[in-house]
Amino acid sequence: MVPPNSGPTIAEQCFGDATVSPELDWTHARQSLSGPGNAGMNIAYAAVDRHVAAGRGGRPAILSLGRRYEKRRLSYAQLADLSARLAAVLAAHGVGAGDKVAVLTGRSVELYVAAFGCWKVGAVYCPLFSAFGPGPLKSRLELSRAKVLIATEELYRRKIAAQRPALPDLQTVLLVGADGEMVETDGALDFNAAINAAQPAPILATTPEMPAFLHFTSGTTGTPKGVLHSHSAVVAEALTARQVFGLVPDDVFWCTADPGWITNTAYALIAPLANGCQVVVDEDDFDPRRWYGILKDEKVTVWYTTPTNIRMMMRYGAALARAYKENSLRVAASVGEPLNPEAVAWGEKALGVPFLDTWWQTETGAIAIANCPGKAKAGSMGMPLPGVEAAVISRDLSSVTPVGRADEVGELALRADLPSMFTAYMGEGANYDLSFIDGWYLTGDLVRRDADGCFWFVGRADDMIKSASHTIGPFEVECGLMDHPAVAEIGVVGKPDLLLREVPVAFISLNPGFEAGEALRVELLTFARQCLGGTLAPREIHFVDSMPKTTTGKILRRALKAKAVAEPEEDGEPLIVPVMAPGRFDDE
Ligand code: WT7
Repeated sequence: MVPPNSGPTIAEQCFGDATVSPELDWTHARQSLSGPGNAGMNIAYAAVDRHVAAGRGGRPAILSLGRRYEKRRLSYAQLADLSARLAAVLAAHGVGAGDKVAVLTGRSVELYVAAFGCWKVGAVYCPLFSAFGPGPLKSRLELSRAKVLIATEELYRRKIAAQRPALPDLQTVLLVGADGEMVETDGALDFNAAINAAQPAPILATTPEMPAFLHFTSGTTGTPKGVLHSHSAVVAEALTARQVFGLVPDDVFWCTADPGWITNTAYALIAPLANGCQVVVDEDDFDPRRWYGILKDEKVTVWYTTPTNIRMMMRYGAALARAYKENSLRVAASVGEPLNPEAVAWGEKALGVPFLDTWWQTETGAIAIANCPGKAKAGSMGMPLPGVEAAVISRDLSSVTPVGRADEVGELALRADLPSMFTAYMGEGANYDLSFIDGWYLTGDLVRRDADGCFWFVGRADDMIKSASHTIGPFEVECGLMDHPAVAEIGVVGKPDLLLREVPVAFISLNPGFEAGEALRVELLTFARQCLGGTLAPREIHFVDSMPKTTTGKILRRALKAKAVAEPEEDGEPLIVPVMAPGRFDDE
């Protein structure tokens, strides 16, 4: 709901009021973000076209920094226009409401055009990790049954082209930066040429319940599971960004997440634009000097990153941080894994602003528990945001019981009524209903709540590995390596790591005819990197004569984990470079 006359400030126009107030609730946000009349709720309207309709189309939406720091800027009106043209292209290729469109473009302007173009035709945006290898990409494309893929020509050529015959659902490929080769030989289309030739299409009036985006997360089987979200996620994403970061339209917001991660969809694409901000998009990989430079030179006011990134910046020392100390930041925050108090202290010193840990999951679709400015406790996840009810519970198959005492460890459960709560799982072995008991969503995280009501992360209740904030299913890594003829049995577990928190390491027993040794180890590590990609590939391989098993024959991960912690170097040099001590600030 946008006030019709010219009086209100831009902040007031964007959200109906100017201040971040606890009274801001889901209902209010839902009204502000919906289309006029019966135009429904569509993320593209809520985050982009709503601003254009209210006369704010000229405001900056995106500043994108290329690998050589080439700058590209897009206003809200330009983003509205390009995404409406893409919507027409998609419709012309048979994409309608509920159809899946996979996107593999890395962080770029085209990613925004692709996502909002999908939402305009009611399609489901399915972004993929560019760091994944051909194997994991193929299984995600199969699972989503994507009809269309939008990719950079380079990523397509390297990771998908050879698998195209095995992907029968994939009908159309649109390539960004096409140099013609793939367009000629592979029947792919040039993304920009197609958009330029199209007329803008109107936004489909979707309902809040209609599916909008699909992210993949790690399951308890060898295949990933798809987590589906609906258009109403924008309500929670827009609102939580105001509650935690205090976003106003004059903010310059930079979220460093990869598009394959829901953090990018929720807080690089949707939340900042729904709040009328300008987003910074860095197309390049992590580089501490570049990152400090971006924060300072692009006058970033709110920064959302991961604990691993901060620990990497710590490694580069205080002198570098000090050189960039003059910045425009108001607040910085992280997600994905616990933010240790040392990193909070470092971040606050290096950046000169509060550094807040936030907790959420692919399934919750938006931040649920967070430290907020003025109410932060370093090392904790913070407190549930207004509107979120969280409990520490124990459970059996059909009921949950809250644990009574402060500081007692239990599973974190959330009331299931968040507007951004996922609406379905896709994929084998992923049971949506089993995630809920009595109106509570069960997170699979073990936590404790202290006497002040702050939540503290204790660990995962399952075997998931948390590496550089990614959630890695050991099963997917194991299945990838089982394809190598030498591997008879394999168990993958997380080994503690100072920088990445955990790294996947593999224990392998060999088939007859293969000899454990350095040559085979290198071969297997290379094989894993090629097929799984750098994120999922194990960092270490240990050969064992036999696997520790339960009486029912399941691999005993606990025993492997103990081995990974206790005997890291028993058969070779560790491949992880030890973390350097952080540089100290002068006044320490
Ligand atoms: C898992 C979810 C949605 C972006 C996050 C990654 C862990 C997340 C924190 C935190 C400790 C955290 C949990 C959670 N996690 N944030 N602040 N402190 N652990 O999404 O891949 O679905 O992973 O990440 O274990 O369950 P995801």
